[in-house]
Amino acid sequence: MLQDKKILLGVTGGIAAYKSVYLLREFVRRGAQVKVIMTGMAQQFVGPLTFSALSRSPVFTDFFDQNTGQWHSHVDLGLWADAFVIAPLTANSMAKMAIGLADNLLITTYLSARCPVFVAPAMDLDMYAHPSVKKNLEILLSRGVHVIEAGEGELASGLSGKGRMAEPQDIAEFVQQFFLSSQELAGRKALVTAGPTYEMIDPVRFIGNFSSGKMGFAIARELARRGAKVFLVSGPTALTTDEPNIELIRVTSAQEMYSHAQKIFPQVDMAILAAAVADYRPAEQAQTKIKKSDQDLVIHLVKNPDIAASLGKIKRSDQLLVGFALETDNELRNAREKIQKKNFDFIVLNSLRDKGAGFGVDTNKVTFVFPSGEQKAFPLKTKAQVAQDIVTQIVKITNESR
Ligand code: PMT
Repeated sequence: MLQDKKILLGVTGGIAAYKSVYLLREFVRRGAQVKVIMTGMAQQFVGPLTFSALSRSPVFTDFFDQNTGQWHSHVDLGLWADAFVIAPLTANSMAKMAIGLADNLLITTYLSARCPVFVAPAMDLDMYAHPSVKKNLEILLSRGVHVIEAGEGELASGLSGKGRMAEPQDIAEFVQQFFLSSQELAGRKALVTAGPTYEMIDPVRFIGNFSSGKMGFAIARELARRGAKVFLVSGPTALTTDEPNIELIRVTSAQEMYSHAQKIFPQVDMAILAAAVADYRPAEQAQTKIKKSDQDLVIHLVKNPDIAASLGKIKRSDQLLVGFALETDNELRNAREKIQKKNFDFIVLNSLRDKGAGFGVDTNKVTFVFPSGEQKAFPLKTKAQVAQDIVTQIVKITNESR
């Protein structure tokens, strides 16, 4: 349960604020001590009295207590909490969190909090799908904020779609699982590869692919969340991470990724290879831009090193190697071949034939395939959830082999 955990519940101004009352009760029921911060808008939806009665603690709404003139220290609140859970999180407060706009007690506390931060966004479906909201959510994720995704269904506007705040029970369960699993990989080290590689043809052109790095970054975050120290070797991507447990090493080509992976692998307990590595590169890279001529242009390609196979060869019995297989046909057969060839402990198969799976998107549909031939298929999930499933499988194998 959440016995003796100190939870700071942040409530921002959306209709889902009424559900936060149930969330507060759920936290208290599970044994947590809860303090509540509300924004001005949140108080338009639900009165602070409801929260203070249920938490048996005054609700923090402003920098000053209007009655006593007492200063509410955002630093003290942030230091008090074991977890800061902001539910609901509106698009407005999300944007403020992303840019660090400290114009109320809740955001100021977020900026000074050292504990893990959880957010449960809630807004109308078009707002939730807006590129600026998506970008802000990505920024929060990159900073290690734990996002409890909104669900689908009927919305307060009367429209139906994605944007409903997750149910109070699910939010409380998420936070509880976080505490239960957060030390599972403490003291462990992991290598993760992510993103595409670019193989330069000349200074302005390259051979590449559509990998965004989202899958690999999600895995790195999940490993770090469970206490591992992560070396994330990523090809060119717009993503970034500031998490203290993740050391991000940016590379461009397969050869660079290979040499970093070779150096790091002997020091780690596990490697998860989510990068889409180019199998071939131009034999020569032109030093200046190749000029157009009347002739066809033939580029001679040579083979790149296979990072996975090279790590599979030097893998020790105390190390775990997990690969991906991105397929367009003969999925299972190809995945099985790759397991053998690259000496994987299991492979995560995703197919471009599945809608919402593979490159660029925020979701993926995967099947784990094991050397024994056993398979475990999952439905379409967010890449963060897929990363959770992968890391849970890794923890299971690690525990079994102890
Ligand atoms: O980055 P996203 O946009 O989120 O997309 C995620 C993804 C589709 C890139 C990811 O889910 C994925 O499938 N990554 C592996 C893509 C791939 O290159 O698969 P493959 O079947 O060609 O390679 C098999 C395995 O060998 C992979 O683990 C790959 O990282 C590794 N490999 C391949 C070639 C090579 N030269 N070196 C390697 O290490």
